[in-house]
Amino acid sequence: MNGRVGRPVLFQSFGKRLLHTFLPWLVWRRRGVTTREYWESYPTKHFLEMEPASLALLAEVMELAPDRNSAILDMGCNVGRHLNHLYGHGYRNLRGVDFNRVAVSDMQTQHPEMFAASKVTASSFQDFLDAGPEPVDIVYTRGATFENVHPSYPLVKRVCAIAKRYVVMVILETGHTYPRFWEYEFARAGFELAHLRRPAAALTPEHRVSLLTFQRLDG
Ligand SMILES: C[S@@+](CC[C@H](N)C(=O)[O-])C[C@H]1O[C@@H](n2cnc3c(N)ncnc32)[C@H](O)[C@@H]1O
Repeated sequence: MNGRVGRPVLFQSFGKRLLHTFLPWLVWRRRGVTTREYWESYPTKHFLEMEPASLALLAEVMELAPDRNSAILDMGCNVGRHLNHLYGHGYRNLRGVDFNRVAVSDMQTQHPEMFAASKVTASSFQDFLDAGPEPVDIVYTRGATFENVHPSYPLVKRVCAIAKRYVVMVILETGHTYPRFWEYEFARAGFELAHLRRPAAALTPEHRVSLLTFQRLDG
């Protein structure tokens, strides 16, 4: 990932800002980063090392789910660096989803033990969630993942339908592909913002990502 800071919606042109603020679902579907083709040509070697924001995400997940049998789903898992970290810490009920078939195939060679013990699905978030997957204790994602899903798809509603307790996101809140109102969307789905860290980890190249933990209210 490059270190270029995207312009927040607030500083974009008036027309774009108006569109993004009031009619997010009408925003045109961006090509490139939103497509399977883009990610399948993006080398998986960029997702092997652990960065401070990734470690912050994993520390949060492990604190929220100390039970090693907790069902944990990584959305946009790519080659599985985060899943493998959890596996190394004793977690044995891991799942992942990513539409990048190259990354899922590379995962088998990069992390064979974790891969064999986990349920990894090569699918888009949309197809995966629409198929009604088994609920899990925690869903997490390390973007850019959710940021790339067009707002016309009810991503938050569908994710919350399968998350029994928490949804943890380390994502770009500014310079995103589409404008989102995460707190509002999660509140509508019965989740409240329980923890927010901006930036997700201090003094890192990826300091512009935030950590947001949403907790089910009736859980
Ligand atoms: C920036 S990479 C992050 C990978 C991983 N979370 C990590 O940090 O190691 C984004 C990942 O999300 C996946 N992705 C993006 N949009 C997706 C979608 N709609 N459905 C499934 N996977 C998607 C891509 O294939 C890619 O592997």
